[in-house]
Amino acid sequence: MERPRPVPVSADADTTARTYSARNVSKAFSGVPVLEGIDLAFRPGEIHTLVGENGAGKSTLLKIMSGVYSADSGSLELEGEALGPLSPATAQRRGIYLVPQEPRLMPDLSIAENLYLGSLPRGRFGFTVNWKMINNSAGDVLSRVGLSVDPRSLAGRLPLAHQQLLECARALAHGCTIIFFDEPTSPLTSHEAETLFSVMDDLRRQQMTLGFISHRFDEVEELSDRISVMRDGAVVAHHLRGESDRASIINAMVGRELTMAKRKTRPERSGAPILDVRHVVSKPEVEDISIQVRAGEIVGLGGLVGSGRTELSEAVFGLRPSSAGVVTVDGVDVTGRAPQDCIDAGLIYLGEDRGRNGIFADVDLTRNASASVIGRLPRKGRLIRKRQEETMTQGALQNAGVKAANMGLPIKSLSGGNQQKVLLARWMMAQPKVAIFDEPTRGVDVGAKEGIYEMIESLTDDGLATLVISSELDELVRLCDRVYAVYEGRVVGELRGDAITSDAVGQLAVGAA
Ligand SMILES: Nc1ncnc2c1ncn2[C@@H]1O[C@H](COP(=O)(O)OP(=O)(O)OP(=O)(O)O)[C@@H](O)[C@H]1O
Ligand SMILES: [Mg+2]
Repeated sequence: MERPRPVPVSADADTTARTYSARNVSKAFSGVPVLEGIDLAFRPGEIHTLVGENGAGKSTLLKIMSGVYSADSGSLELEGEALGPLSPATAQRRGIYLVPQEPRLMPDLSIAENLYLGSLPRGRFGFTVNWKMINNSAGDVLSRVGLSVDPRSLAGRLPLAHQQLLECARALAHGCTIIFFDEPTSPLTSHEAETLFSVMDDLRRQQMTLGFISHRFDEVEELSDRISVMRDGAVVAHHLRGESDRASIINAMVGRELTMAKRKTRPERSGAPILDVRHVVSKPEVEDISIQVRAGEIVGLGGLVGSGRTELSEAVFGLRPSSAGVVTVDGVDVTGRAPQDCIDAGLIYLGEDRGRNGIFADVDLTRNASASVIGRLPRKGRLIRKRQEETMTQGALQNAGVKAANMGLPIKSLSGGNQQKVLLARWMMAQPKVAIFDEPTRGVDVGAKEGIYEMIESLTDDGLATLVISSELDELVRLCDRVYAVYEGRVVGELRGDAITSDAVGQLAVGAA
């Protein structure tokens, strides 16, 4: 990537290199302690990473430090000076910005408007917005994060990965020098993540103060100067770059040794495919793809971003049009049918973007899980019998490993990884014949991943036909009986059993084999 140019800085932001600390910070939600006595300092010129299980309190801490939540006790200090009460706006004025787990842009505003929201540069007399200046400097900031898009186009049109980069550009546009990234890479593929990492690396060299949360250990090791491990609302260990190995960090996180289980060998299936996709075309991403999945089989789709895996799933599930091809589910033709028809035929799709098409944020956990079977819930007159609904969903939520104080909480109060688990529970309640899981462990901590793998395995052993899309090669190796490698909208290879290795899938995915 080309070297970044100096950032245009808004006049009121505080831009010197600074240490930013939490001192004895505690926080409870409805009486339940979430953070207890946190002491942590983020220093200039460093990427300081927080790791920990789902629900450990990582996001809550960064939200407090960026003014989204207020602490119940303790203080925040900038270069040793205590900050008063903080809102997101005052935090931004002090040069502090949080790039959140799910981007929160205004989809109907332009990219430039999103960048400067709240501080649109004005004309000479302060009455008019200086659009020329905005669009020009927006172009500069966008190119710094590797985004070549028209600043006047709508933010909502950007793919998720680019929205994440736009959030980062927004921090720069406001001259922020203390930037926190909450799992910025969980919706990104490795190539997109690399762009973000090189941006972060540049910011570090400019002596910015950077905080980072991630569940992906490869990137944690690659990026972090310092790693703090959180567990049950406390910081339990610190590690410096190169000082400790992955096993000891994970051990501090989950309190036990973790080993990734081996793939279970399942008997080879020979029946008629339950999901049969023949020569589906959905341009420009899907050129011509045929795949089959049988009952009791886990099949993977490996490939790079833009290889067409997600687009194929969307076309199969009626979320985008296809111009040719046939899709059947257990013999029923669902080609070109709407998602609800696919669900009725026994096909479900757990998409990669939880925020946009998954959760009902203000609705409780139980209903979020039961949404897939809403028509079948026990009723008295028109009213759903809540008690019975709870009993029905409890098992599914437990199987998915959801940890929550109570099932009546709105799902937005759950940690990111736990929200993902609720979505898994939802689709399992529909008792599908075929399930497509797109990045099933996105945002899920290393300790809980194995639980999700076991759940997918046991459903498959009970006869589910399972298709898994994953950017993590290890995940495909751990789970799949067969893997199709997809490259530029076509299947370029198929691997089975022990031939499925990270190397083999990786090679096919880049079109090299
Ligand atoms: N607004 C809220 N209301 C009630 N409880 C909340 C709220 N926000 C967070 N919590 C609770 O605080 C705890 C810590 O959540 P947090 O989101 O900080 O976890 P996390 O470490 O970021 O986890 P993950 O890795 O899954 O993102 C969880 O038990 C969560 O349910
Ligand atoms: Mg979180």
